[in-house]
Amino acid sequence: MESFVIEGGVRLSGTVRVHGAKNAALPILAATLLADGLFVLENVPDLLDIRSMAEILMALGVRVKREGEMLVVDARGLRSNVVPEALMSRMRSSIFLMGPLLARTGEAVLGYPGGCAIGTRPIDLHLEGLKKLGAVIHEYGGTILARAPRLEGTTIVLDYPSVGATENLMMAAALARGTTRIVNAAREPEIQELERFLNAMGARIRGAGTHAIVIEGVERLHPPRPHRVIPDRIVAGTLLAAAAITEGRIVLEDVIPEHLEAVIDAFRKTGARIEVAPDRIAVEGVRPYRAIHRLSTSPHPGFPTDMQPQLLAYLTQAEGTSVLVETVFDGRFRHVPELVKMGADIVVDYHTAVIRGPRRLVGARVRATDLRAGAALVLAGLAAEGVTIVEGAVHIDRGYHRLEETFAALGARIVRTTERPLLAPEGQV
Ligand code: UD1
Repeated sequence: MESFVIEGGVRLSGTVRVHGAKNAALPILAATLLADGLFVLENVPDLLDIRSMAEILMALGVRVKREGEMLVVDARGLRSNVVPEALMSRMRSSIFLMGPLLARTGEAVLGYPGGCAIGTRPIDLHLEGLKKLGAVIHEYGGTILARAPRLEGTTIVLDYPSVGATENLMMAAALARGTTRIVNAAREPEIQELERFLNAMGARIRGAGTHAIVIEGVERLHPPRPHRVIPDRIVAGTLLAAAAITEGRIVLEDVIPEHLEAVIDAFRKTGARIEVAPDRIAVEGVRPYRAIHRLSTSPHPGFPTDMQPQLLAYLTQAEGTSVLVETVFDGRFRHVPELVKMGADIVVDYHTAVIRGPRRLVGARVRATDLRAGAALVLAGLAAEGVTIVEGAVHIDRGYHRLEETFAALGARIVRTTERPLLAPEGQV
């Protein structure tokens, strides 16, 4: 079991490059199944989730080779459309494979996806959308079997602008017969990135970034020229929060500031100084800083749910009472009891957290329960007095490449350790 050990109280300073976006790279990896050929993907971060997706592709016969930040994917060997259950349950994004496999092979057999423990995460929108495209879907036991000799274009109205469902349906519809319209589509930057990638493969898609995406199906797709994955806006946001909470001063390089508008706006409201240039952001934390009266997470371009835990950790040190409402996922406040252990004053009522600050944070042993909750605990540790041990580094590794090295390079005192689980002394429970 790996943990991060952090000695808080250092103001971060320096320049840091932001790595490629996990959530853009994952659907792009799934999209390689749509064409017979060799793909070169650049700026693909070496993260656990990316490795899991690569393992799934390899189990289907695809060859994946990493060379630094580049992945070379040879999809010519695709020989199976059955995703092994053990791999499927590792992460939720494996559901993306359903659309491409169906479109390319006419059939897909998958288990139910796993992923972060952040509440109920159904896949009904994915399945309903694929059914509208003509797939016949049987579910039995833990297995989903989908069949469609050829998908047929249609209009799909999503009940909710789900990121994953929008991506899955875009990939499936790219090879369908006729035109598909996805109405109430997600508008996240990763959707636009997938549109760019698929169009470079020969797809005919427009409208990504708006509520309606139109896909004119084509007969065949081909690998594009080498594709560079966009920078990770959530990693950038997390680093920005780290500078702000430590009253530090850092420069983020290789970022797309437009992808971070809601995040920048929220931190500016508290008083943090943020300057934006076309591909860099300079952040300077100030003390004291103001609470945020009320902020709700929402689909893009709203404040991202993937930054809620980090913002919440930051607001424990703000002057006054903040209210954060989580509208995207249920059960996404699992970092709260851990922050309270460190001295924060937070009360959660269903979807709403009320944070009273500032309260002095003191180092403690805390546990990361999911990726972004883990990031929030690391941020709290950076600002706390004394030593914080964040258990469950494995969750954080799913989305941040060697986070401890990134922070150490900015001056933080943070190391990774391997610990055995502590056993209770004999006679005690
Ligand atoms: C993606 C991101 C994740 C981010 C989330 C919201 C990836 C790999 N992951 O996840 O980091 O937190 O977007 O920005 O890109 N829902 C349904 N039925 C469905 C699908 C979704 O009810 O079939 C609900 C979910 O339970 C959730 C909401 O819709 O409450 C948003 O989920 P969705 O946008 O699909 O998130 P993901 O694609 O899983």
